[in-house]
Amino acid sequence: MRKWFMPGLLTACCLFAILLVYFSLRADEPSTGPSEAAPSASASGEAPATVDAEAATAIYKSNCLACHGDQLQGGMGPALTKVGADMSEADIHKQILNGGGGMPAFKGTLTDEQIATLTAWLASKK
Ligand code: HEC
Repeated sequence: MRKWFMPGLLTACCLFAILLVYFSLRADEPSTGPSEAAPSASASGEAPATVDAEAATAIYKSNCLACHGDQLQGGMGPALTKVGADMSEADIHKQILNGGGGMPAFKGTLTDEQIATLTAWLASKK
């Protein structure tokens, strides 16, 4: 029990710091429109394969920019400018959902739709 205390405390501090940065960034960023009411004008339903760069950029700015840079150039996290060439869409999706390697998971933070929007957008970066 005791030997887990310090590492545990450190981890908790790291998580807390990440959350702080994350929330202060979100607060700074005026949300670029209601994500709920984004009518993608797809009357036919299905085929959400199109890249909604505008929506994706807005989500990126408030959630990812701090670590991946304003131009996807990277920073604390790797550059994402050509991530679509290096990673499959499924892998990008998994990385955003589960995080890992220093990146927080966005499973509970972003909606499935937001994650799908980001994934499609990043997968198109080749
Ligand atoms: C707290 C910093 C942080 C935030 C916020 C963050 N990331 Fe990351 N991200 C990282 C780190 C660090 C890695 C490297 C993980 C590894 O090497 O396993 C990474 C890796 C990735 C990768 C894989 C890239 C590669 O070449 O391996 C993708 C894709 C990615 N992030 C997308 C996103 C998206 C999209 C968001 C916003 C929803 C986001 N990240 C938010 C830190 C962050």
